[in-house]
Amino acid sequence: MNYYVAPMEGLTDRVWRQAHQKWFAFPGAPARYYAPFISPPENRVLIKKKMAELSPAANPGAPVIPQLLAKDGELAAWMIGELRKLGYTEVNLNFGCPSGTVTAKGKGSGMLRDPGKLDAFLAAVFANADGPISVKTRLGVEKPEEFAAILDIYNKYPISELTIHPRVMRQLYRGEADRAAFAAALPGCTMPVCYNGDVVTADDLHGLEAQFPGLSGIMVGRGIIADPALLRKALGGAGATREDLRGYLDDLYHGYTELFGSAGCAVSRMKGHWFYLIHKFEGAEKLEKQLRKAREPWEYEVVVNQIFTLPMV
Ligand SMILES: Cc1cc2nc3c(=O)[nH]c(=O)nc-3n(C[C@H](O)[C@H](O)[C@H](O)COP(=O)(O)O)c2cc1C
Repeated sequence: MNYYVAPMEGLTDRVWRQAHQKWFAFPGAPARYYAPFISPPENRVLIKKKMAELSPAANPGAPVIPQLLAKDGELAAWMIGELRKLGYTEVNLNFGCPSGTVTAKGKGSGMLRDPGKLDAFLAAVFANADGPISVKTRLGVEKPEEFAAILDIYNKYPISELTIHPRVMRQLYRGEADRAAFAAALPGCTMPVCYNGDVVTADDLHGLEAQFPGLSGIMVGRGIIADPALLRKALGGAGATREDLRGYLDDLYHGYTELFGSAGCAVSRMKGHWFYLIHKFEGAEKLEKQLRKAREPWEYEVVVNQIFTLPMV
């Protein structure tokens, strides 16, 4: 079973991918890091700053899979060609993002509203781009029953792997991933399928593997931010030590400071990680507000030092 790390805007960027590999590397885990989405520029002029995220020199180690958020199939195919020039093989298409600003433009899971448009998009992509193209999808817009018609379209194309996050667009991240709907959809999929959604422990990963032995992969998102050693543990390795976490968080903080040219901006990015990670420290909830309010680097550093005096869960 392959374990993948989910694309998460603001979390699984290149600074994170490097820090994660340095501190929590384990042979074969993750098999791949999916990079947060990028949108192909309509004028077909690549923006250097955005492409820096995918520069091969900044992404040594485990394979990184770029992800595209697009609704123009020919433009997406052009971008896939540009990514191939950089050496990327697989490129992933995003039909999952539920954010209102994205779906209002008919992108992300907004693409699932109109199966005809989805079909035309995929036809244009596959007619104009070569090489492995994978898809990450939700089950639909309003209800899981929509997936049957969506899957009929996916099955028409040589999708290299279909990652299914069994929620619908309207749900955002509310409720639970609908594993029963996933199980019902699985037999109809003609391509390799990866499961994604609400996996937060090694036991849960193993349980899914036992329940769905035919999967090509399981993708973890928030669970690996909450416990960066999640995949290492699932493969029989050690849990995160205090030293691992200290080194990892220091590397992230310094990496973001360098990337943004400002420790203040790094503080705000670090809060995104701490939102999930704070629960690794017993009783740290009482410091959550202080962490949220920290603006200056020194304020952030003081509260993080306090958190590190707490026992780990
Ligand atoms: C902050 C955040 C940013 C995300 N950004 C992306 C993204 O760029 N592309 C994407 O396909 N999914 C994105 N997702 C969705 C995740 O990849 C994943 O599908 C979702 O979190 C469910 O998996 P999990 O329960 O393991 O976290 C994002 C999720 C979160 C919470």
